[in-house]
Amino acid sequence: MGERVTSRLEEVRMLDAEHVMATYARQPAAFVRGEGATLYDADGEAYLDFLSGISVCNAGHCHPRVVEAVREQAGRLMHASNLYLTEPAARLAERLASSFGADAKVFFGNSGAEANEAALKLARKHRRGGEIVVLEGAFHGRTMGALSATPQETKQEPFAPLVPGFVVVPRADARHCHRIGYTCPSCGKPIYEESEQCPKCGTYLDGTDAPPQRRPLWIGLGVAAGANTASQ
Ligand SMILES: Cc1ncc(COP(=O)(O)O)c(C=O)c1O
Repeated sequence: MGERVTSRLEEVRMLDAEHVMATYARQPAAFVRGEGATLYDADGEAYLDFLSGISVCNAGHCHPRVVEAVREQAGRLMHASNLYLTEPAARLAERLASSFGADAKVFFGNSGAEANEAALKLARKHRRGGEIVVLEGAFHGRTMGALSATPQETKQEPFAPLVPGFVVVPRADARHCHRIGYTCPSCGKPIYEESEQCPKCGTYLDGTDAPPQRRPLWIGLGVAAGANTASQ
């Protein structure tokens, strides 16, 4: 890297350090342009981008069709709020929903964390009470609900107390996920261990004996914000 770049990079680093909250440790690079799988710094130095913006730029940087669509829309109407309808959003929802089945619905959010918050709220609304099972070491984002679903000490500890109602299960025993967080359909007591019967009242919990509304509700997440973050 030449002297000029070092000083440009230093200048950006100093501006960032002075004015941006230090929530992320930045890599020592500042990019000015992208094309396909390549990023360029101010000196024209090329970098092969293996990260793709954490999978957000998965059509490549500045794909001509994406650029043209954004340019065209930005010149026509940039923001109308969610109080009004716009045709592109309705058309996109139709396309996305058609991949998931007749009664699928789309929620538009701006980030993975927001999608996860929406999924948590949907689950709560659909099924009052109960617990949300997350895998140990999982990462679901940095908003309070998503952070509460992120059982990592270093990330959670500074922000305690978190949102209650999350249960962490070991990755090694996925079977736990089928039972933990169950509520006994008979006595209403929560059940935390792998069991065929409610340890409190003896009611059978397995198979057809368990009413469908007491079966676990699965929240599936495919996070690559901007293109296909999907929660159902
Ligand atoms: C698995 C997973 N969940 C959630 C998120 C949060 O997404 P965002 O940073 O867009 O809020 C990320 C982001 O990297 C992620 O990798």
